[in-house]
Amino acid sequence: MDTILVTGATGNVGREVVKGLLARGTRVRVSVTDEADTRRAPSGVAEVALFDFTAPETFPAAFDGVARLFLVRPPAIGNVKRDMKPAIDYAVAAGVGHVVFLSLVGAERNRLVPHAKVEKLLQQSGVAWTMLRCGFFMQNLDTTHRADIVEHDDIFIPAGNGRTAFIDVRDIGAVAARVLTEAGHENAAYPLTGSESLTYGEVAEIMTAELGRPITYSDPSPLAFARRMRERGYAGGFINVMNGIYLTTRLGMAATVYPQAAELLGRPPITMRQYVRDHAAAFGR
Ligand SMILES: NC(=O)c1ccc[n+]([C@@H]2O[C@H](COP(=O)([O-])OP(=O)(O)OC[C@H]3O[C@@H](n4cnc5c(N)ncnc54)[C@H](OP(=O)(O)O)[C@@H]3O)[C@@H](O)[C@H]2O)c1
Repeated sequence: MDTILVTGATGNVGREVVKGLLARGTRVRVSVTDEADTRRAPSGVAEVALFDFTAPETFPAAFDGVARLFLVRPPAIGNVKRDMKPAIDYAVAAGVGHVVFLSLVGAERNRLVPHAKVEKLLQQSGVAWTMLRCGFFMQNLDTTHRADIVEHDDIFIPAGNGRTAFIDVRDIGAVAARVLTEAGHENAAYPLTGSESLTYGEVAEIMTAELGRPITYSDPSPLAFARRMRERGYAGGFINVMNGIYLTTRLGMAATVYPQAAELLGRPPITMRQYVRDHAAAFGR
């Protein structure tokens, strides 16, 4: 059976891709960056390989016998040419036939984002590719923004009244598993969003209804947001990226709902209400 390598397998999306692939009975190899993790294969996973985009000595074992690849750009990697191209080149030379890349909605229109650079590399490499151009993850709320919700009952995001077509990473995992195991998605790009476009004020209303306590949305200035995120230990570069993303949201650039996720899932995408309900414990005091 073909081996599928999932990079970023310990992350938000990779974890869900692994679940989706295992449910389809495929042979999954997951990549981890910590040597200690290579000895702990999650149940059902065939192999765990040590793999680091910036460590070429990890490439041979990671890519050996791999037919298809789920590719995640780690958020900390900004220099795609230096830090991702060597692994992509190696994978293609080693015989990987299809790469499914976790990209960003609008990457085709914004050549400055790292995702656009990865897409270009894949398109020029000769390998079959599929771009999953994802909207904003609902799960950012229970990770990056969780502390404000738990400690202050507040969504503290500088996005104004801009709308966001959020997607649940569980849906991305299900779509990726389908695309990795079925023919017909080669050299296709899918914008993936949920089926609703919400302001953060509306997200706060949903949270209020589902969590049983009032949740507010305060729309801080980018400066106040940066100050708070610095206090929480986030790096300056990451805070700047977040401020940039929330500026585009404020300007209405994250609002478009696309039908492809529903088509590929064969059901409506997970709603914000369902996401909050499923993560109520994470938002509890
Ligand atoms: N957040 C959003 O709303 C959104 C929307 C669209 C697209 N995206 C894109 O999605 C990607 C992030 O996905 P995610 O949230 O699932 O990731 P994540 O939870 O931040 O996890 C990052 C993963 O990358 C691995 N990793 C880190 N450094 C690595 C390296 N040098 N070599 C190999 N693997 C490495 C980590 O492994 P270890 O645990 O072993 O360190 C981890 O599995 C980014 O490219 C982001 O721009 C995000």
